[in-house]
Amino acid sequence: MLPPASASNQLNQEKQLAAAAALRWVRDGMILGLGTGSTAAHFITLLGEAVRNGQLRVQATATSQASEAQARELGIPLLEPRRGLRFDLTVDGADELDPQLRLIKGGGGALLREKILATASEYLLIIADSSKLVPQLGQFPLPLEVVPFALPWVLDAVAELGGPPVLRHNRQNPQEPARSDQGNLLVDCHFNQISDPAQLATQLQTIPGVVEHGLFLGLARAALVTQGEQVMVARP
Ligand code: 5RP
Repeated sequence: MLPPASASNQLNQEKQLAAAAALRWVRDGMILGLGTGSTAAHFITLLGEAVRNGQLRVQATATSQASEAQARELGIPLLEPRRGLRFDLTVDGADELDPQLRLIKGGGGALLREKILATASEYLLIIADSSKLVPQLGQFPLPLEVVPFALPWVLDAVAELGGPPVLRHNRQNPQEPARSDQGNLLVDCHFNQISDPAQLATQLQTIPGVVEHGLFLGLARAALVTQGEQVMVARP
């Protein structure tokens, strides 16, 4: 169910504030990773303005085709993946974060590229509205990227782990499954409460056909979380 319009406007304003705060973490000459989702899109818009005004010279790689298209349109210079490429700073959103800055990501289906860039980054900065900060992960269904051939067995294995799985469908064409940028399927697992994220991450990694899961553990260095009109800096 969608939140009422005013609540959703407020969350959108909170996302914009967090994105604006993140822009102040960008230094001239940095190589950046660009996240995916509505909060990351606000950041990319602001970054594009700073690049156009000549305030910042940066280069960037995006975590999705959508973010890449947005960055290209705004004139942000883009880098292709290559050996040795490291990111000074990656700015990305999250679906949930706990006080230790463990994350659930992948609501936008970009979890694989998001984890690749997060891992290749010196600093992963998360930007989020107040609804994302939770005492315990798991209310948000945990996304998996799955090789199509493996789907039936992955669904069995995840159900056995206690996270009823739901195959994600394409929003525009609900008869069709949603596909990641890599052409894989997306499965959302309803654990409700994840009491031991590290153990669950290990279990998910061992299921053949699971390309990546949306638990991001030990990756975020800081988070900018807006509460009303204040942006708080949280660290693990
Ligand atoms: C995409 C993600 C996003 O960061 C996450 O879904 C948050 O999105 P939004 O900023 O729109 O709330 O992980 O795969």
